[in-house]
Amino acid sequence: MSKTSPQTYSSLQIWLHWLVAALVFFQLAFGDAMGKMGHMLRNRQQPDATTAFMADAHIYAGFTVLALIIIRLVLRFTHGAPEAPAGTKPIAALVAKALHALFYLLLIAAPVSGALVVYGGLGELAGPHHLLKPVFIFTILLHVVAALWHQYGLKDGLMRRMMTSKA
Ligand code: HEM
Ligand code: HEM
Repeated sequence: MSKTSPQTYSSLQIWLHWLVAALVFFQLAFGDAMGKMGHMLRNRQQPDATTAFMADAHIYAGFTVLALIIIRLVLRFTHGAPEAPAGTKPIAALVAKALHALFYLLLIAAPVSGALVVYGGLGELAGPHHLLKPVFIFTILLHVVAALWHQYGLKDGLMRRMMTSKA
């Protein structure tokens, strides 16, 4: 882990943040194709081309998230992350840290549980994998509200930290 906190996120960290966010939105919006595919295969129905394509896309996008999140974690420990903006209450900084840690946990649990369902024969993990959807949505909502509150309520320019690597 870096000993002193950097002033800013690096541009690679910023790119990865938005790329992962876009992929997660895609997974949450179109993940149901995967459930439909499983249902059709179990009922010995031939999946239509769109369902088969979207199910493949779900798997590729999910593994991409896993690869990118490993890179992000490595960067988190080598480059580090800037301290909470000056004036942030210690409890708020702690909650933000916990929420970010929860994100990392979810971003690993989602692809790993999905892969265990498809390739590990652990169909019983399909339920927990589905459950990640509302947990993700709730966490994203809290995260976005917090970001907007910093930007427009506290006016401490926090959003800028995830937009540019210039201090
Ligand atoms: C699926 C969607 C998202 C995920 C999984 C996600 C995840 C994360 C994580 C894990 C961090 C902490 C980075 C670190 O310190 O290692 C972070 C920071 C941040 N995110 Fe997101 N994020 C998402 C969407 C968004 C959106 C939509 C916004 C803007 C409205 C946003 C704004 C920010 C900002 C400003 C920070 C920096 C916070 C700080 O410097 O303390 N994120 N995000
Ligand atoms: C960031 C990664 C991932 C996210 C956020 C995610 C999210 C989702 C969501 C939202 C659903 C649909 C739930 C519903 O029908 O409402 C779903 C279904 C599914 N996903 Fe994922 N997923 C991810 C990665 C993966 C990966 C990598 C695989 C497999 C290699 C996978 C396999 C599945 C399967 C098999 C289903 C259907 C389960 C069933 O109903 O039988 N997922 N996923």
